[in-house]
Amino acid sequence: MDTSEFTSKSTNKYIDKASFTWQTPSNIALVKYWGKSNPQIPKNASISFTLNNCHTITTIDFEKKEKSTVVDFDLFFEGKQKDEFKPKISEFFTRIQAYCPFIFEYKMTIHSENSFPHSSGIASSASGLSAIARCLMSLESEINSSLSEEYINKKTSFLARLGSGSASRSIEGPLVVWGNHPDIEGSSDLYGVKFPYDVHPIFNNYQDTILLVDKGEKQVSSTVGHNLMHNHPYAENRFQQANENLSKMSEILQEGTIKDFINLVESEALTLHAMMLTSNPYFILMKPNTLEVINKIWSYRAENNSNICFTLDAGANVHVLYPEDEKDAVNSFINNELAKYCQKNQYICDNAGFGATRI
Ligand code: DP6
Repeated sequence: MDTSEFTSKSTNKYIDKASFTWQTPSNIALVKYWGKSNPQIPKNASISFTLNNCHTITTIDFEKKEKSTVVDFDLFFEGKQKDEFKPKISEFFTRIQAYCPFIFEYKMTIHSENSFPHSSGIASSASGLSAIARCLMSLESEINSSLSEEYINKKTSFLARLGSGSASRSIEGPLVVWGNHPDIEGSSDLYGVKFPYDVHPIFNNYQDTILLVDKGEKQVSSTVGHNLMHNHPYAENRFQQANENLSKMSEILQEGTIKDFINLVESEALTLHAMMLTSNPYFILMKPNTLEVINKIWSYRAENNSNICFTLDAGANVHVLYPEDEKDAVNSFINNELAKYCQKNQYICDNAGFGATRI
């Protein structure tokens, strides 16, 4: 695996102090990443919609200091010092040190906040890690002004991946593929790439309402979850199926075959949960209300000839996906029929977005 293009090039500028702020999105996978090998290499390719409203805003203040052997940083989350979040970020810095050696030469103060409630069951690692990667790459591109935008995007995704696999899909939008796949030109296990083909207009501004069925802390951390795929009796078939599903999804997105989209997206969600049901230790991550919601969605779809469907992350919350032209009708349905299955009736309206923005 050739990572040499990501080792830092020689510097041409001395920066004493700098501060960068980035807003980076969360994403929702249509074909799921579940299973990886070291260092953060996915067992299959995945594709996701980048979200618009669920995002992290992170500022990193960099101050030049004597070069040392440890990375010196403070971390504030929503205004409060959060030492409990530091180990994950420290591990991230260890993984990227060969690619960003300048992190040993700066004191970093990181301030981060999410647009969505912290323990809402919405994974914040994708937006959180991609935001830090973005800020680091802003510093790198100041130190070395010759870097192209294309290279910066690629390396940002490469770094973000080393923090959290799905974070590699949180740099650009609205559709990003991560993982080497013969049908996706330019795809790589090392970074995410924008879906490289024209997408049928039915998928423009695709809607995603996230039903907060269970806002508890994650029952299975992603590290534990991915490890469940080692020695899993169905793992190899699953990885093969996911890659086949990505081929199908690529065609569906180009041709606009929405009924096939619905079938594939729901099957991927249920397969992800099936992997957890059939691993050892085993987990049931759906809650009774997750099933209530799924059944309601199926009835609504049949009764209204609708193109609504659902997907799931590694948790009980339900992502309700639908085309923009059904927005009003589906919003009434959610309000009248689904909100009652959410904790405190809470849900978040989102849509596919275009990726990270510097602010
Ligand atoms: C179920 O990206 O959170 O959301 O690489 O260990 O940080 P790490 O895992 P993470 O896994 C996400 C898994 C998923 C499916 C997906 O987003 O593709």
